Amino acid sequence: MTARKILVCVAWPYVNGEKHVGQIAGAYLPPDIFARYQRMAGNDVLMVGGSDTHGTPITLQAEKEGMDPAQVVDKYHRLFVSGCLAMGLNFDLYTHTDTQNHWEVTQRVFRRHLQNRYIYTEVTKQWYDPQANRFLADRYVEGTCPFCGYTDARGDQCDNCGRLYDALELTNTRSKVTGNTQLEVRETEHFFLDLGRLNDPLLEWIATGKEHWRANVLNFTRSQLDMKELRGRSITRDIDWGVAIPVDGYDNKRIYVWYDAVQGYLSAAVEWAKLSDAPTRWLEWWDAVSAPDARHYYFMAKDNIPFHTQIWPGMILAYNDEPGAADDPVRLHLPYDVPANEYLNFRGMKFSTSRGNVIGWNTVLAQYQADAWRYVLTAAAPENSDVDFSWPDFVERVNSELVANWGNLVNRVVGFAHKRMDGVVPQPGPLDATDTALLDEIRSGFQSVGGLLEAVRLKAALTECRRLSQRVNQYIAEKEPWKTIKVDPQAAATAVYVALQAIDWLKTLWSPILPHSSEALHSYLGYDQPLFGTQYTEEVTDNRGVHQALRYDHTAASGVWAAATLTPGQALREPAPLFTKLDPVEVLGEG
Ligand code: MF3
Ligand code: ZN
Repeated sequence: MTARKILVCVAWPYVNGEKHVGQIAGAYLPPDIFARYQRMAGNDVLMVGGSDTHGTPITLQAEKEGMDPAQVVDKYHRLFVSGCLAMGLNFDLYTHTDTQNHWEVTQRVFRRHLQNRYIYTEVTKQWYDPQANRFLADRYVEGTCPFCGYTDARGDQCDNCGRLYDALELTNTRSKVTGNTQLEVRETEHFFLDLGRLNDPLLEWIATGKEHWRANVLNFTRSQLDMKELRGRSITRDIDWGVAIPVDGYDNKRIYVWYDAVQGYLSAAVEWAKLSDAPTRWLEWWDAVSAPDARHYYFMAKDNIPFHTQIWPGMILAYNDEPGAADDPVRLHLPYDVPANEYLNFRGMKFSTSRGNVIGWNTVLAQYQADAWRYVLTAAAPENSDVDFSWPDFVERVNSELVANWGNLVNRVVGFAHKRMDGVVPQPGPLDATDTALLDEIRSGFQSVGGLLEAVRLKAALTECRRLSQRVNQYIAEKEPWKTIKVDPQAAATAVYVALQAIDWLKTLWSPILPHSSEALHSYLGYDQPLFGTQYTEEVTDNRGVHQALRYDHTAASGVWAAATLTPGQALREPAPLFTKLDPVEVLGEG
């Protein structure tokens, strides 16, 4: 098999606070599971992402905390990176958008769009706060939603019904800056992306070869394009925080956050190549001409779907078009798959920081094992519909599934071999039909689990791992080596060998979902090379300042997606329990 180039794209979180576990389940954990599997399967993975540093979510938070936007960005970017380290999200590069590299890429794409006539200017009407002497972009104006009547609707989107509209459609408007309710409407000139012109090209792109897409993503995208709903969309704002517009005479305006943020997938690959001293290597993933087989997967929650199935692909098509492309051999790849998730909710409603209905991931990663979270958030993944998270469910899944089904099996078998079989993998006698049936079944997991991970059906992959682990539990209950060791040591040695071999394979099958405990088990089984590579951070300095980059070094990794033979005689290491059983009273409180 030749290695395929796989770009794993992770939606860029706004760094305006601690992220909650719902966001982790929806957007950030799934790509890591997928990327770990693809690396083990022998493919060339580049997993990129970073913090979304622009837009009114950031400036509003800065005003709230009495800081500069750049300080807010640095603070919460570092917090997110520390969460990635704790959760084990193995980005090849996690960066942010307020870097010189990202500015350059964004401005180059902007100029190309302008040259290809996909960007035009127009004088538009915007809310203006005369008390603050400024235009009120996006979240700086609030009012009553024209669709559902919600009175705290924001200028860019209604939090209650989720609809997008023109801010001018809001009624009873007020300024987030001064509270002023006597707002004016003033004219101002802005740049627009001509999405209307891209409707048909996008429809053509979406029409074929998308059978592997999730139905909700495909139907949503197709219906809007079918109805020719795309319209020109303004891509600049009257604000001073954001990427500068690369055209003279617009010094007091900035590029709109969504226009620059989606380009992060491209700019991060470029930055990764620069940091790796291989400045043109990003082309191996991005160039559809010289690397036609590369596949791009985009992970996110459902509110981000239109930006990744319409706007960003439209921007790519516009970039690839003439006349700009005439002297440029590079053609950027379009998305191969967009496995977006629905929401993980809490107490029947959306996790919401402003309503105090939230479970911060940095906070809970300090309290419970990362693999416990990875297990529960995958088992309860909102792949096809919204799912409600609850603490009793968390305890139940950890104790009766993760610990009872997999953790205890490992502890019993590896512990028994270590203590009673001279601390080595025992030499088996001839295998009987039960032994070979078990090994055949577990071996087939490399196809079944691998196929599900390949198809981004992570929840089903977990269920399959659990079923296979249960088979080993049945096997060991039947063979009872702790009893037979007294009367027939050879039979006990064979059963323990077979169970250890099955556990060794299951370690690999579980490892994309449970990397930390699989790594520990790998060491208990006597291996010296780690399964996975290592994450590290680096401070990168450029003309815009210093930013922290999270990186991944895979050179020492030994994990391979295949049923390797466990060698009899291999020395085991003394095992410790893989998982901590939770005390329901401690987690849930009394009553
Ligand atoms: N910051 C956006 C959010 O949190 C997501 C941006 S994804 C990107 O909803 F592709 F635009 F970067
Ligand atoms: Zn509404």
